Amino acid sequence: MTQISSDISKAIELLNKEDVVAIPTETVYGLAGNIYSEKAIRKIFEVKQRPLFNPLIVHIPSIDHLEKIVREFPVKAQKLAEAFWPGSLTLILPKRLNIPEIVTGGKDTVGVRIPNHPVTLSLLKQLSFPLAAPSANPFNRISPTSSDHVKAYFENTLSMVLEGGECKNGIESTIIGFENNEAILYRLGGISVEDIEKIIGKIQIRNISETTPNAPGMLAKHYAPKTKMYLLDDVDEFIENNESKRIGVLRFKGKLKTTRFEHIEILSKSGDLKEAASKLYSTLHKLDSLNLDLIVAERFPDVGLGKSINDRLERATK
Ligand code: TXA
Ligand code: MG
Repeated sequence: MTQISSDISKAIELLNKEDVVAIPTETVYGLAGNIYSEKAIRKIFEVKQRPLFNPLIVHIPSIDHLEKIVREFPVKAQKLAEAFWPGSLTLILPKRLNIPEIVTGGKDTVGVRIPNHPVTLSLLKQLSFPLAAPSANPFNRISPTSSDHVKAYFENTLSMVLEGGECKNGIESTIIGFENNEAILYRLGGISVEDIEKIIGKIQIRNISETTPNAPGMLAKHYAPKTKMYLLDDVDEFIENNESKRIGVLRFKGKLKTTRFEHIEILSKSGDLKEAASKLYSTLHKLDSLNLDLIVAERFPDVGLGKSINDRLERATK
């Protein structure tokens, strides 16, 4: 049975024994293991039912650990790290040879970030190795933003969830890599494109790649609830002929004209995209648990974190 506990020393003990522990971060909970333990990394892939070619993000406690992980640290990457670490930014950089292939899906690069969560930073500082951690959801399911979400997914397969409260940002890290010295954004996430561009100027966005994904977080279907879900520009325009269907709504803000919906979730009454992003997954988890026939989500404004939210909603409805 999975234990939810705030006991960091218990987590250290399990991780030192090459076990896997779910850890809190400011984005989503992760399934963490020692990057140098093949046993731990294999367990992560197994528990998550994730294909082995899909690489994991390496989590480090501070910037001085970076040189043990990567061979190069381009100037643009340095500027981004300075601006956003600890925080919701993953940098894809050329890996050192000692970083196991199983962590990087056989790639010559490795994704790294310093998470911004006091519990996990404290844990990382006390370990003698970095932690590889994908989001703590089964492949293709909604990411977890609370310890309860993780426990519900992995009750019988995970020894421990390290308690860290609700994830403050609630959406995965923004992923940026470099090709011929050009920065490329591979996954929209917790740091907006606009905020990135303030630091390094215009960035190429290559967020959609369905056939040969650079970051398989970009595979078309992802982050999906079990309930059938549609994404619309205006929920009030939604037409469903079957009057008996129980329909739930997910939208940004404001009142609906239509009254035929069973359940309505507003992500931010005050119209704050950061608040909306932080509640996105927990609200999807909730809607998915209500046994509705259908969820209709309304597209968010296509600016700032609205872009990241729309990206996740599109993937959830594919
Ligand atoms: O916020 C986050 O990033 C969370 C927390 C736990 O840190 N982690 C997370 O991991 O979202 P995951 O595995 O669910 O998504 C990481 C994405 C995957 O799509 C993976 O393919 C991509 O990062 N990735 C990791 N290393 C990569 C690499 N070397 N090259 C290209 N993509 C990479
Ligand atoms: Mg994920």
